[in-house]
Amino acid sequence: MVEKKVGQPIYGLTVRDITKHFHRTKKSDEKLRLPEKIRRLFKREKEIIHAVDGISLDVNIGEIYGVLGANGSGKSTLIRLISTLLLPDSGSIHVFGDDVVTHSMKVRRVMNRVSVEASFFKRLSSAENLVYAARLYGISAVEAKKRAQVILERLGFEAKRMDEEMEQLSRGMQQKVAIARALLTTPMLLLLDEPTTGLDPKSKRDVQTFIEEIRDERNAVILLTTHDMAEAERLCDRIAIIDNGKFIAEGTVEELIAKVPPQNNTLVTLEDVFIAFTGKDLEEEED
Ligand SMILES: Nc1ncnc2c1ncn2[C@@H]1O[C@H](COP(=O)(O)OP(=O)(O)O)[C@@H](O)[C@H]1O
Ligand SMILES: [Mg+2]
Repeated sequence: MVEKKVGQPIYGLTVRDITKHFHRTKKSDEKLRLPEKIRRLFKREKEIIHAVDGISLDVNIGEIYGVLGANGSGKSTLIRLISTLLLPDSGSIHVFGDDVVTHSMKVRRVMNRVSVEASFFKRLSSAENLVYAARLYGISAVEAKKRAQVILERLGFEAKRMDEEMEQLSRGMQQKVAIARALLTTPMLLLLDEPTTGLDPKSKRDVQTFIEEIRDERNAVILLTTHDMAEAERLCDRIAIIDNGKFIAEGTVEELIAKVPPQNNTLVTLEDVFIAFTGKDLEEEED
């Protein structure tokens, strides 16, 4: 285990003031006349998007840290930076003390990411996809099937469906396969990017229950993004509210609620906190 130096806590995940910007060609206005459209096309007017704009966070072993934000607020970019898929413009990220930029190979071995847009070989079965992934980790096919079956059954995925083509499976079932894949090895850092978005209520509950069990069993560091208030409240030990690439509030649910004064003697909810800080109502964009 990691040795703790007095007065200097060693976190599982440490993010310091990271930024990431993108250039995007401005969307052309439909109403413009053709010559103007062509002129703009050649000028290639670019706008800069500060997708992640000075974010810092620390997540301890055994903790689930939630990043709660609307679509486009920067959640996936933050996850991609931590998982070494993107390089930050500035700032630093350490995973169990190792810099993710200079020690990317080492860091990749101890973490796994589950995202909404998980990719699979659609015409292969989930069993085949899991065996393929396992080979990359150096796990035998037999062992991979055994491990995957245990995880999938705990997630409420019937083992007998493991031989159906991925494309025959519902979104919820595909997501369960993505989670099983991420847990074939024992990641010490688990990055869950909107793990339940778009799932039916039962799959959502199955996945949430499983995430809690993983936290309790594996002593992992878990970073989870969501735009679901109830999910953040249920799963996360601490929550950061992200808006336009910035963390605008952070704390336990109780700490966040204490930041907003109650109105008309009603109890403040996490949703009230979110609206108070961002001026946005997440329910409106629920998909
Ligand atoms: N590769 C990219 N190129 C250009 N813009 C991007 C890219 N990835 C993300 N963005 C933009 O960065 C912002 C944050 O996106 P993202 O991190 O995907 O948000 P979220 O996951 O919270 O929905 C959005 O405005 C998005 O359009
Ligand atoms: Mg996203």
